[in-house]
Amino acid sequence: MSRKVGIGVLVSGSGSNLQSIIDHIESGTLDAEIRVVLSNNPEAYALERCRKHHISSVVLDHRQFDCRESYDRRAVAILVSSGVELVVMAGFMRILSPEFFRAFPSRIINIHPALLPAFPGMHVQQKAVEYGVKFAGCTVHFADEGIDTGPIIIQSVVPVYEDDTPESLSTRILKEEHRIYPQAIQYYAEGRLVIEGRRVLIGNGRRFTEQALHNPPLTRF
Ligand code: GRF
Repeated sequence: MSRKVGIGVLVSGSGSNLQSIIDHIESGTLDAEIRVVLSNNPEAYALERCRKHHISSVVLDHRQFDCRESYDRRAVAILVSSGVELVVMAGFMRILSPEFFRAFPSRIINIHPALLPAFPGMHVQQKAVEYGVKFAGCTVHFADEGIDTGPIIIQSVVPVYEDDTPESLSTRILKEEHRIYPQAIQYYAEGRLVIEGRRVLIGNGRRFTEQALHNPPLTRF
């Protein structure tokens, strides 16, 4: 059984993950309600998406605050007063201070365009191409005070091809982000995310029919 979970989405840019969340809510496949969208960037296209879908949004421009703590105090106050239960970071280009984690313990999730713990940080699609990995992907995880270090909820794997550029790989990864982020929020809404140490236990007993993926595919063995 699930209920509608009240979410607050933190954005800084295009907001394509926000769009995917909106679309899944509107089509009835995601049991969530967006209480507020908060952007640190007044120019974020995500804000336009909010206008189109009549979603309440707030711009909190970090340049108008003298320190991270005062910014975060204000952000937390907005999220709490909007009735947000789960904070969803969707391309939010800021590090959260301890203030945030005290206000929303184990209730902040993030999406990262790499298979963590490989390639934390920035420009990770380019780093994956340059490193020569054969698989890349994306990760939804609980946020903690480290950079892209919290317990992992769900990951999606995509192949990296020899003619990939950072852009073509980003496009392939982003398509998967748009699938796994709504799924992670839905698991949360269903009360299925149990954190045990570093592990998130979901109790979804489904398994792969194939035990392994290969890229390039095996031709003989
Ligand atoms: C995504 O690749 C996400 O993984 C990363 O920032 C990007 C945001 O894209 N954290 P969008 O704003 O959701 O389109």
